[in-house]
Amino acid sequence: MKDGFTVRRVKNEKDLAAVIKIVKMVFPEDSGLFNAYMNCYTDGDFSNSLMGIVNGRLVAHAVVIPRRFMIDGVPVEMGQVGYIATHPKYRKQGYMKDLMPAIDALIAQKGLHLAYLFGIPYFYRKYGYEYALPDDSFKVAPHLELDKLRPGPSVSPDEFIIRRLEPDDTDRALAIYGKDASHRTMWHPRSRKVWSFQSESLQLFSEGWEAEELVFEKDGKVKGYMRYDVLDDALKVREVNFDEEDQKVGLSFALEHIINEAFARNLPRVQAAIPLDHPFMNFFVTRGGISVDYTYGGMMKVINLMELMKKLKNLINQRMAGTELERFVGTMTINIYEEHVNIRIINGKIRTMDNKPREPEVMKDIRMSPQQFVQLLTGYKGVDDLLGIPDFRIAPRWTGPMRALFPKGNPYIYMHDR
Ligand SMILES: CC(C)(COP(=O)(O)OP(=O)(O)OC[C@H]1O[C@@H](n2cnc3c(N)ncnc32)[C@H](O)[C@@H]1OP(=O)(O)O)[C@@H](O)C(=O)NCCC(=O)NCCS
Repeated sequence: MKDGFTVRRVKNEKDLAAVIKIVKMVFPEDSGLFNAYMNCYTDGDFSNSLMGIVNGRLVAHAVVIPRRFMIDGVPVEMGQVGYIATHPKYRKQGYMKDLMPAIDALIAQKGLHLAYLFGIPYFYRKYGYEYALPDDSFKVAPHLELDKLRPGPSVSPDEFIIRRLEPDDTDRALAIYGKDASHRTMWHPRSRKVWSFQSESLQLFSEGWEAEELVFEKDGKVKGYMRYDVLDDALKVREVNFDEEDQKVGLSFALEHIINEAFARNLPRVQAAIPLDHPFMNFFVTRGGISVDYTYGGMMKVINLMELMKKLKNLINQRMAGTELERFVGTMTINIYEEHVNIRIINGKIRTMDNKPREPEVMKDIRMSPQQFVQLLTGYKGVDDLLGIPDFRIAPRWTGPMRALFPKGNPYIYMHDR
C-alpha cells in the first residue's frame, strides 16, 4: 500500500458529503442518482462506502451493495461493487489498486460469497473479475429499421387492452418477470421497492429522457408488460414478458404495438435490449430485425469458494442425480489456484466439504483460474468452451462429472437491475 494511504468506511454525514462530492465529480451523469440508489438498495445505510484517504483527502471511493441473485433456483447473496472512482488529480498513482483488496475484505466481512460489477473489463481483470453475466443493453442494440420491415403476422387489435403500468400492477408484473427469469442459470430477483425505484428514478431512462411501462390486459387480468425507452432516433424495448400461456400471442402483439408506436412518433427504428435467447427476439428477427452477436456483461469474482459451495450443496446434489456420480464414492477437489474445496461424495450425495491440503497430483485433477470458475458457476460458459485453455485442466475422468455439475446455461441481468 502506498505511503500515507488509508482506507475506512463512511461513518458520518461529513464523510458522506465528501463521497457524494467525488461521485458527482467522476460520474456527472449520475448526479442525484447516487443518493436515491443508495437509499433504495441499502435503506440509507451508507457505511458500505469505502474511502481511500491521503493526507486527510478523499482520493478514491467504492461502495459494496449487498444484492441477492438466484443461481439455478438457489439464492446467493453477492456484493455489488459500484461508484468506483479516483479523484482525477490522483489517478494512475495506484490508489484504486490499493483500494481493491479492501473491497474484497468488506465483501467477505459481510458474509457475501461473490462480488460483481460493471465496468472497464481490462481494469477489473487485473483484480480477478471476469465476464459471467450477460446484459444485452449494448449501444448498438439489435434494431429494426421501419423502412425495411418484413411482413408481419396478422395481429388482432383487440387481443389485449394496453394501458400504462400503475403501482398496483407491480406485484403482478413482478410475478410475470420472476416466472420468465426463473429458468435462467443466474438472475436477479427484484423486490417491489426496487421495481418502483426503477420506475421512478432516472435509471430506466439512462439513454433518453422518456420511458414507458405498459401492461397488456385480457379478461380483466394483466397478462404481460413492456418497458421501453424513447430515444431521439428509436424506441428501445428494455423488457417484455407475458404469462406462459399468452406468451406467443402477447410477444407478437407487443412487437406490433411498438412498431406502430415508432411510426406514430416518426421514429425510424425500434431497438431491443432483450436477452438474445428470449422468444421476443424470434419475432423481432422475423420482422426484419438485425440481431447482434455480441453482448455486454457483468463481471464477477469468487470471494469465498468454500461458503459458496456449501450454499450450493443441494443444487450440486440435484445435478449429480442421474449422472455417473450417482454411484461415486470419493473426494472431488476443485482447485481455483488461490483456494480449493474438497467435496466428499458418497453415492452421489455430498457428505462433507473442507479445504484441507491434498496431494499435489490431486490438486491438478480439476484446476482452473477463479475467473474460469465464475463463468462455469453462472453457466455463462460450459466445460467444453474452456477445455484446451492451458489454465483450465480437467483430468479425463472428471470431464463428464464437471459437465453435469456446471452445465452451460443462460444467465442474464437486465440493464436496470445492474
Ligand atoms: C478507473 C479508475 C477508477 C482507476 O483508478 P486509478 O486510481 O487511476 O487506478 P490505479 O492508478 O490504481 O491503477 C491500477 C492499475 O490499473 C490500470 N488502469 C488505470 N486506469 C485504467 C483504465 N481506465 N483502464 C485500464 N486500466 C487502467 C493502471 O495502469 C494500473 O495498472 P498496473 O497496476 O499494471 O500499473 C479511475 O481512472 C477513475 O476514477 N475513472 C473514472 C471513473 C470510472 O471509469 N470508474 C470505473 C467505472 S466502472
